[in-house]
Amino acid sequence: MNVLIVGNGGREHALAWKIAQSPRVERVFVAPGNAGTALEADNVDIPATDTARIIKFAKDNGIGLTVVGPEAPLVAGMVDALQDAGLRAFGPSKAAAELEGSKVFCKDMLRHADVPTADYHTFRDGKEALSFLEDREETPLVVKADGLAAGKGVMVCSGRAEAREAVERIAGKREFGDAGNRIVIEERLVGQEASVLAITDGRTIITLPAAQDHKAAYDNDEGPNTGGMGAYCPTPVVDDALMDRITELVLVPTVHHMKRARRPFKGVLYAGLMITKQGPKVLEYNVRFGDPECQPLLMRLKTDLMDIMEATVDGRLDELPPLEWDPRPAVCVVMASEGYPGHYERGHIIRGLDDAAKLPDVKVFHAGTSTIDGSVVNTGGRVLGVTALGDTISQAKLQAYKAVKCIRWQGAWCRKDISDKALGHG
Ligand code: AMP
Ligand code: GLY
Repeated sequence: MNVLIVGNGGREHALAWKIAQSPRVERVFVAPGNAGTALEADNVDIPATDTARIIKFAKDNGIGLTVVGPEAPLVAGMVDALQDAGLRAFGPSKAAAELEGSKVFCKDMLRHADVPTADYHTFRDGKEALSFLEDREETPLVVKADGLAAGKGVMVCSGRAEAREAVERIAGKREFGDAGNRIVIEERLVGQEASVLAITDGRTIITLPAAQDHKAAYDNDEGPNTGGMGAYCPTPVVDDALMDRITELVLVPTVHHMKRARRPFKGVLYAGLMITKQGPKVLEYNVRFGDPECQPLLMRLKTDLMDIMEATVDGRLDELPPLEWDPRPAVCVVMASEGYPGHYERGHIIRGLDDAAKLPDVKVFHAGTSTIDGSVVNTGGRVLGVTALGDTISQAKLQAYKAVKCIRWQGAWCRKDISDKALGHG
């Protein structure tokens, strides 16, 4: 079978790497891909949001399955369009992807399904939101733009003044464009964060080992939010008993509710959770593999990913044998461009990739890279996801940073503390 992967990030490199290992797969294409996906598959010069050209390519090249990686094409309905054209596609429908596409929709769904989440209010404009802030007592709050904003539309505020400023950025300056047409203001939760990803065909739910992302730019979780500066898996923050509770309190009611609402969810359901003293609470849902969580997860997955994806698309996940995992933990360190998450410089030649690749139990996944005149250069903010397995989390971390040391380009940097949150647990 031929497979087409849509997207160009580290997640898509990991998907291409894993899918290319399936004995049932002949050719893998990635649209548009990056310098790393070109090593595992054939890059196709079509943007990830160009549904018409994606469909044409899939038809012309006998694609048996299209895997849509990023949220934007999912929320725009690419999976529906592929299916309408008679093609098989992995990922949720437009109606189901609204879980990520609209935070108002997500919060209302959580409330109806009785899933634990932060208390919240929604607003149709800045004026309403500001008058709400005036009327209530001073507490830490989180202000969120409703729509997709690449992880940047969420502002954690210590009090009223900061919350006012956040509303002003969303509704006054319209920094997030139409994504800011509605606003959510919610209670600020305290605890450890964890990412629990599940694969579901709308009926059966298969949870993947819990992972932990590092959203803040700098060590000790300081600095602005990013798309994620590193991840590791499994995380001791979620033990087996807690995973059972998360399945029962969060995943099952969500999947049931989406089915009852005639928006059956098929694909990867990613629960961003805060583990509070009162138990797990949902911060957000994503409707796809997390980036960078996907990299350590797939590094550990032994089961053929095609078996999982096809069973999901065909609605027979209940027949799938239990997933097999490498027992060793995996740590992924993101190397970024100078200036990220703000303005950054591109086009610097990346050296040392071959030396890093020679290290045992290491895989360097590319995110923001391109090949220009035979050299790999940085073209994105998050450039590489350097991922390693080890007998313990500390050893996986050591190996990942050993690989990071081999790689250099002008301005390259990374967090030095990826996976340290695991210390003091388990
Ligand atoms: P989201 O995109 O909704 O996951 O938010 C991005 C990040 O903002 C999360 O990973 C948390 O670190 C933080 N965050 C979001 N909502 C809350 C909340 N209610 N309380 C505390 N932190 C939050
Ligand atoms: N790692 C967070 C995300 O993929 O949204």
